[in-house]
Formats: sequence, structure tokens, C-alpha cells
Amino acid sequence: MDSNSFYSKLSDSQAAFTFDSVLLRPGKAIIEPKDADISTNFSKGIRLSIPFISSPMDTVTESRMAIAMARRGGIGVIHRNCSAEEELDMVKAVKRAESFIIRDVITIGKDKTVKDAFQIMQKHYISGLPVVENGKLVGIITNRDVRDEDPSARIADVMTKDVVTASDAISEADAVALMRKEKIEKLPVVGKDGSFEGLITYKDVKVKGKYKNALRDNDGRLLVSAAVSPFDLDRAKALANVADQLLIDVAHFHNANVMSATKRIIDEIGKPVIVGNLGTREGVLDAMSQLDEGVAGLRMGLGSGSICITSDVTRAGSPTLYAVSQAAGALEELGVKGVPVIADGGMKNGGDAALAFAFGADAVMFGYVFAACDESPTPILDIEGKQFKKHRGMGSKAARERGAIVDRYADSGGKKIAEGIEMLVPYKGRVDDVIDELVGEVKAAIGYAGKTSVAEMKQAQVLRSPPREKKQV
Ligand code: XMP
Repeated sequence: MDSNSFYSKLSDSQAAFTFDSVLLRPGKAIIEPKDADISTNFSKGIRLSIPFISSPMDTVTESRMAIAMARRGGIGVIHRNCSAEEELDMVKAVKRAESFIIRDVITIGKDKTVKDAFQIMQKHYISGLPVVENGKLVGIITNRDVRDEDPSARIADVMTKDVVTASDAISEADAVALMRKEKIEKLPVVGKDGSFEGLITYKDVKVKGKYKNALRDNDGRLLVSAAVSPFDLDRAKALANVADQLLIDVAHFHNANVMSATKRIIDEIGKPVIVGNLGTREGVLDAMSQLDEGVAGLRMGLGSGSICITSDVTRAGSPTLYAVSQAAGALEELGVKGVPVIADGGMKNGGDAALAFAFGADAVMFGYVFAACDESPTPILDIEGKQFKKHRGMGSKAARERGAIVDRYADSGGKKIAEGIEMLVPYKGRVDDVIDELVGEVKAAIGYAGKTSVAEMKQAQVLRSPPREKKQV
């Protein structure tokens, strides 16, 4: 190092601008904002109807949130702060929801108790269980039976034995007609020999028609993504054929060990993965050169999340807008098309999302915003007449104590430092309503910027503006 490089270090540095320091420069609107096209890409293979993703955090995305996101045309990334089996179960629950004939059905044995049935139903958010013995359907038990019967009663003694069934050749319309005629909510599918083959539920068939922009696979099942560690090949392999997109979830992806472990996962599963988090041009260039076609998307932003304290305790970080612009610039430099850039961390509304699009993001990931909704995994807390939900960083002490996510953060030797905090967020109700609000804000922002779509927002101009006063929450 020569002395000049010390003297000029600060003056040569780049500005780490973020949401509070810029505004969209207004432009002439040629369409009404309501007509703006907000479809975009989540990964190489997945197109979203709305540009929103729920973050893989244990206070944000489990199956309920992922189902709600996919119904609206966004996507949820199931968190990994749990065992591989639990994560797989959550992914499967999303794939089960709304398929016409559910194949991977949760069942119960006739010698179990009503209490067992209650616990299984609660855990999986389901309202009835086919009773199966040696692969054959012998009865059905619903939440009504469970509610009215003695918890210690045997399933065999309280189940409905005379079950209305269908063969798997039944059409959707015929199944609905049969369930209406018989006044039943669940229609088990059985083979000629009485073998249990699947389940049709009235609710799923009806809900399916309600969400026109839902994200579905070729079999009509909702799409879901799952977070994995780069160092857990077994979990990645188990999830790769069930989840629609894997996302490598570490705090600092630009790390030699992380990148080579990710390469191994990509080679083993034979599918591209979303990588992150990254914060710089160099990080993106390295990831692209090492992993090439294996990169399905880039998750950008380091230390800017609502619950992040990485930039406080380490004084390192890449604010989300800066990080996004680095990724978009690097991809442009490489001439790479079709690798989506995901902005992640610190966004509170559709306006923040619109700024991220202007700096090169294709889609945005929210933690804080969705943690506040009914569908997040935590209970509503009543505090002095106000309602809240909990949100916490995956590097917080409490999240690390759950044990499964310690390798999200690099080993700095000695005592593990906390890189996240726990906080309360004001409760906001159903995610459907919150998404409506976000959609309205994004479309209005596109209108002000004089653009017609999320994709076109990359050409929006911005203004430097002094930080605005923060609102107290
Ligand atoms: P928001 O602001 O939407 O941010 O809640 C969610 C994103 O924050 C990241 N994340 C963390 N970052 N320490 C960090 O520095 C943490 O403990 C932590 N937990 C989550 C993550 O990228 C997430 O999507």
C-alpha cells in the first residue's frame, strides 16, 4: 500500500445509498397505474404474477405463508431453522394444498386415539384424516368427531366406517357434484381392491378456482421454494425433487468454502439454485464464473434487514439498493440475461420495492412486512391493548438457540456473535390484504415514474434526496 491509497481511501469510496437517500424521479405516465404489468421472474424457471417473495425466516415462512404467497402469484421460501424432516414436511404441505387429488396424504391408524388425531390435525392445519390399515382405507375421522368425542377414545370406535369414495378417474366436476350430494368435505380415492390412493377435498377444489393468478406446477400444485445450507448436501438432495426451487441461504455467499460447497450441490442435484446473500459486483462475478449455468437467481443485500445488526457489530454491509445495482451491473457486464436479481432486506412498502426495481431488481423479498401477518408462524401478542407479532433475525441469539441455522453465519472463531435481534411488529391481519396494499403501492410508483411494468422500471430515473424523517412504529 502506498501512502496515497490511505489518503484517498475515503474519497475513492462508493456511496452506500439506501431507501431513505433516493426517490423515483417522476416521468410522464402513458398508462393508468392499475394497468401496470407487475409480473416478473423469481428464478430462471419460475415466473411470478406479483414481484413479492417471503423470506426464509422462522418468524416469516412456513407452509401457511408459502401457500398464501403462491395463491396470490408470489412465492414463499421455507426457512431452514429446523430439521430436514420438518422442512420437507412443510414443503410437502404446500404441494398438498389445492392439488385436485392429494397423493401424499396424512393418515391415521385405527388403534390411535382421538387425542392423536387432534394433534396431527392441528400440526398440519387439516380438518380430517383417512383411517388406513395395511394400505387399505377403513374409515375417516373429521375435526367434528375429534371435537365431540372423548380424547382417549380409539379411532376405530368413533370413525365413520361407511365412507363415500371415488376412483382416481373421477373428474373435478363429478367430484364436486358427489361431495355436494353426499354433503361431505372429503372424498377419499381408492383402487379396485380398496387400497387408499389419495384424497379430494371440497375446500381445495373450490379455493383453486378463486385465485386466478396462483403459481402452479403442471399437476396444478402450488409452487414453493426452500432454503438450504451449502454444507447440507443430504437436505438439499431430499428437498430438490419436492420443492420447486432451492435457495442457498447464507449471510455471506462470497466465501470460497460456501461457493465450492454450492457447486457440489448443483452438480449432485442437477438443477440451478438461487445464491446469496451477495453484496458486490465482485461477488456476483465470482459466483457467475464459478457456478455459471448453476445460478438460478441472485439474492442481494447484506446487513440491511429490519432485524439485522451485522453492520452494527461488524461495520460491514451492502445496503440493499447498492447491492442490487451491483448485481444488475455485473450481469450487464457479463451479458447474462435471465438470471433474476432479488432485493432482500429493509423494505417496508411497495415504494421501497419500486426503488429496488429502478436499481435493477426483478423481485423483492420481505421479512418484516410478512412477519406481521396472520399466516406467519408466530402467535398474535396482546400488549397493552395493541396487537403485535414477533420477528427475529436468523442470526439472533434466540434463532441460533433453535440450533439448525448456525452455519448461516461464517465461523469467526471463539464465541458466536449475534448478528440479529428480536423485535415486535404491529400486527397487520391477512397477508392477502397486505399484498393488495403492496400491489397498489408498486403500481402507483410505476405510474409516477412514467413506466408501464416492473421490467421497465429498470430504466426509471432517481433523485438523490436527503434522508427523510423516520416514522415511529
Ligand atoms: P426485513 O427487513 O424484510 O429483512 O425483515 C429480511 C432479511 O434480513 C436478512 N436477515 C438477517 N440479516 N442478521 C442479518 O444481518 C440476521 O440475523 C438476519 N436474519 C435475516 C435476510 O436476508 C432476510 O431475508
